[in-house]
Amino acid sequence: MRHEFQRVIDVADLPDPGKTLVEVEGDMVALFHVAGAWHAIDDVCTHDGGPLADGELRDHRIACPRHGAQFDIRTGAALTMPAVRATRAHDVKVADGGVWVQLRDAAATPATSGSVPAGSEPPRSSPSEAITAPPPATGDAVAAAGPLCEDTVRSVLKEVKDPELFVNIVDLGLIYGVTIGPAAGDAAKHDISVDMTMTSPACPAGPQLIADTKRALTRRPDVASVEVRIVMDPPWTPDRMTEAARDQLGIF
Ligand code: FES
Repeated sequence: MRHEFQRVIDVADLPDPGKTLVEVEGDMVALFHVAGAWHAIDDVCTHDGGPLADGELRDHRIACPRHGAQFDIRTGAALTMPAVRATRAHDVKVADGGVWVQLRDAAATPATSGSVPAGSEPPRSSPSEAITAPPPATGDAVAAAGPLCEDTVRSVLKEVKDPELFVNIVDLGLIYGVTIGPAAGDAAKHDISVDMTMTSPACPAGPQLIADTKRALTRRPDVASVEVRIVMDPPWTPDRMTEAARDQLGIF
């Protein structure tokens, strides 16, 4: 679709540095005036829809006010977790004392760059793919995993991957605690309780992660039941990730 430049504000309306929210053809756009130049990106954090124009602006970075993901205001590139996809950037010009914005189509947005390198965006699973159950554990596999203990549980949970980041939930730092107790009425089995957090309170992958966690653990013949408790305090932060997860996401 062909978009035209739309006048959004007068040049004098926004100091340098400064940011404001404007509407262009019905889309909410975050407009920035930094180091003598103008930039515009969608007012939408690609992690979970946070309003970027409300975030903290530092040089050419805007931090989402919800969970802290940072974006490059020049390109829309996602620079830090938990966002891994670029938000849409738009063209800006100054003419006749005004600032004009021309929307770009989504396809014209550059790929994610910066700390999250281009091409590293994980593949998105379709809902049907995402819920595919792992195969049942064989006796040999269970024996190889070892006797049931917290380390064993964490090892098993490395099979469960965040469908957006494609990194396992242990290395992402989502597992806060594991409790193992005897199963009622069956001395050979155990009940497991897992305290798990999410990268955001409204994480859309939450139900899938809970289901996959239960599925992975109940494959063991010595597990009777699995309870997953969602814990949002303390909130998840990117520094909870292991080095392995950082490497996988290209964060240094
Ligand atoms: S909504 Fe922006 S970082 Fe979560």
